[in-house]
Amino acid sequence: MALDLLITNGTFANGESNDVGIKGDRIVEVASQINAPAEIVYDANDCLVSPPFVDPHFHMDATLSLGNPRSNVSGTLLEGISLWGELRQKLTPEAVKERALKYCDWAVAQGILAIRTHVDIGDERLLALQVLNDVKHCVKPYLTLQLVAFPQNGLLRTNNGIKQIERAINLGADVVGGIPHFERTYEDGNRSVTHLCQLASQYGLPIDLHCDETDDPNSRHIEQLVKDTILFGLQGRATGSHLTSMHSMDNYYVSKLLPLMCEADVSVIANPLINITIQGRHDTYPKRRGLTQVPEMLNHGIRVGWGQDCVLDPWYSFGSADMLDVAHMGLHVAHMTSEEDINKCFKMITHSNAQIIGLENYGLKKGSTASLVVLDAANPHEAIRLRANRLLVVSSGKIVAQRDKSEVQLNLPERPKFTTFRHP
Ligand code: FE2
Repeated sequence: MALDLLITNGTFANGESNDVGIKGDRIVEVASQINAPAEIVYDANDCLVSPPFVDPHFHMDATLSLGNPRSNVSGTLLEGISLWGELRQKLTPEAVKERALKYCDWAVAQGILAIRTHVDIGDERLLALQVLNDVKHCVKPYLTLQLVAFPQNGLLRTNNGIKQIERAINLGADVVGGIPHFERTYEDGNRSVTHLCQLASQYGLPIDLHCDETDDPNSRHIEQLVKDTILFGLQGRATGSHLTSMHSMDNYYVSKLLPLMCEADVSVIANPLINITIQGRHDTYPKRRGLTQVPEMLNHGIRVGWGQDCVLDPWYSFGSADMLDVAHMGLHVAHMTSEEDINKCFKMITHSNAQIIGLENYGLKKGSTASLVVLDAANPHEAIRLRANRLLVVSSGKIVAQRDKSEVQLNLPERPKFTTFRHP
């Protein structure tokens, strides 16, 4: 069979050397050597070939708005929310669309081919949701977008919050969102969790809550999410994002909580770039890191992914759509520096994230969607260390981004004329 695209001499994350044959939008063969004619042959030259990166937690309505109307001086979550509240009133469809499409270009160039984005539905116009729904359809041929109906100021704290979220679902939101720790009282937070789980069950949607994104060890809405996940039959499609209060909880309580999370099959998304930045802001020394208990959850068999959360917005003034950057920060903060843990971190930004957001036909195997990325690295460890260049990005069988290897020219006595940062 003649192939449309043949990737030769690739190295998979498990160390296997493979060719990948693509016809249409499918991978039709994976083998150590494929001897079929192909319209395009790309020699990966022993570089790492991976399924595409997946970002399971993002805010596309706010991205690339840094400095508008001003910057976050305290660096806290609360000032970020208040700043976003100012900007939200001034949003125009054109500006939201332009920023979102520019960010999607960056994501594709960095090998991200699926993004779950939370979209604030506090604005009565639901402007951001409508625009991002349009963007979702524009980019669909090459990038999967999932929209989370997200009441940024709290479901019960927002005027007509319950009505708004139902409107958002009816307009096409894919996932139910919430933020229980930002409701007026702890009891309201738990009531919002129950209400949102009920909605998810009623509409047959997944649920993904910003949950306990605080340094307060008494913020335990995850407990309510676990209970209601079981009550409403949402096992396998409920996610707790952030869970930073777990960083400060006492070990005895956590030893009770982790098995409960397993029982409910709740997934977790940790966002290390943003949480190392905004947590611990009220501490003197020692300052808490504010990342949830990632290795402990993985050891309990809980599905955990790394998310990016923010790029150049009211909360975070860095970022470049780079999931390798996310994994790099995550493994530092979580002390996941053994070879086994580094490989787990790479799996988190690929397979685990894909599973958390429910992507189908994902992976480098026969019959899967032909989406992949070739990285200028020998293995996952080197890819994360270098935040390696994406040499080739293929989405549903089509080359959507490509770049040359980069070398640095040297002018040193008795040394080579060029170097790279690959080793050995
Ligand atoms: Fe978030």
